[in-house]
Amino acid sequence: MLNIVILAAGLGKRMQSDLPKVLHPLAGKPMLGHVLDNAKQLNPGRIIVVVGHGAERVQQGFSGHEELEFALQRPQHGTGHAVQQAVPLLQEDGNDDVTLVLYGDVPLVQADTLQRLLDARAGGMAVLTEKLDDPTGYGRIVRNEQGEVQRIVEHKDATAQEHTINEVNTGILAAPTAHLKDWLSRIDNNNAQGEFYLTDIVGLAVQDSIPVHASHPTSGWETLGVNSRVQQAQLERQWQAEQARRLLEQGVTLADPARFDLRGELICGRDVFIDVGCVFEGRVELADGVRIGPHCVVRDATLGQGTHVEAFSHIQEAQVADSARIGPFARLRPGAQIGAEAHVGNFVEIKKSTLGKGSKANHLAYIGDADIGSQVNIGAGTITCNYDGVNKYRTVIEDGAFIGSDTQLVAPVRVGKNATIGAGTTLTKDAPAGKLTLSRPFQSTLEGWKRPVKKT
Ligand code: UD1
Ligand code: CA
Repeated sequence: MLNIVILAAGLGKRMQSDLPKVLHPLAGKPMLGHVLDNAKQLNPGRIIVVVGHGAERVQQGFSGHEELEFALQRPQHGTGHAVQQAVPLLQEDGNDDVTLVLYGDVPLVQADTLQRLLDARAGGMAVLTEKLDDPTGYGRIVRNEQGEVQRIVEHKDATAQEHTINEVNTGILAAPTAHLKDWLSRIDNNNAQGEFYLTDIVGLAVQDSIPVHASHPTSGWETLGVNSRVQQAQLERQWQAEQARRLLEQGVTLADPARFDLRGELICGRDVFIDVGCVFEGRVELADGVRIGPHCVVRDATLGQGTHVEAFSHIQEAQVADSARIGPFARLRPGAQIGAEAHVGNFVEIKKSTLGKGSKANHLAYIGDADIGSQVNIGAGTITCNYDGVNKYRTVIEDGAFIGSDTQLVAPVRVGKNATIGAGTTLTKDAPAGKLTLSRPFQSTLEGWKRPVKKT
């Protein structure tokens, strides 16, 4: 059985934050969330998170994840001490029992790299290592003349000779669970930092003639940790570049891959174009030929084939059918359903409403709680008055209706098929199909009227 232990008890002092480090986001998701999502792909029997600093907030933040167990490490006496706190929760079923240790602040290690580490174990233990041009600060991998891993020495405990070793410990390792428990009971804190080092189990494995193998990450960024806001920002850009690269390889055009942000999942059809400065959040689907103009925010939305979104539009929890035109400066809020070939223009806000096929709201409108049929024209300044201060009501506008500019539709109200509403109308009663309805004080001109003149 595979157990995964995620170390997340550290303070994260250099973040200069009240938020526990592992709750800080990367690509819109807490770092610990990334680690978890990758860990889950390995189908572990157990996932144990070791918490300490800000334990309550971390547990609360992940209370929805029922598969998680938490072990408390308070105070913190090192990485070995941290894993010791998880020992009572480790499970064994006699079937290749292994424990994989991950760090909550190393968010991007990918499942395939971890699977290769597990495979490299070959019954023994395995450490994930890497060669760095500047290994300063890291634990070094000490090998014998045959090239076999002998032990890990921490930077602060290393000799000048050992400081020249450029193969470093990433911190991630996998060990047989029964051995791990035994080794953890044998480590001490006689070292430069007075801590119980997890890394000392490597030397104990060698003493016990358990083979220690090394495996390496596919990409260097996978093992980068976050200790400061600077590192967080750097890793964010690195991850965004990686996501951009993946989309480009899938055939998406990004006007500038360096000005693209994905905080979730983006599924694209063929020949999708995305201009600069866009942010995608949650789960977004863009069908074939969709074009997104510059500086748009799209969250949890689906856009149909050939739909164009112009600059500065904001789309959230909305669905847009094929060949529609949205924006510039349009806002689609939750529950907006825009039909095929419909147009939603500048400064138009649509919420919990359907806009049927070929209908147009081109300028300055608020459409909330409305069912609008096909081929409807919504004039500039149209407002559905859906809220009386207490309750909300729906507006229904049937196919082919024409709503003149500056109309207020006081819901609940219905506009019949092919009805026309005169400009400036305040509609408080249903408007019959096919007729002109308007509420308007009729225009008059006063003959002989003169402007007042200033008294001297
Ligand atoms: C550790 C490794 C080092 C490796 C480096 C890679 C040890 C002794 N050293 O060093 O070989 O090169 O990571 O980044 O393991 N943590 C706890 N409880 C503790 C201490 C740490 O949960 O008592 C957690 C931290 O929150 C962090 C992780 O363990 O997620 C690593 O701790 P950190 O202090 O960064 O380890 P390093 O000294 O950098
Ligand atoms: Ca560290």
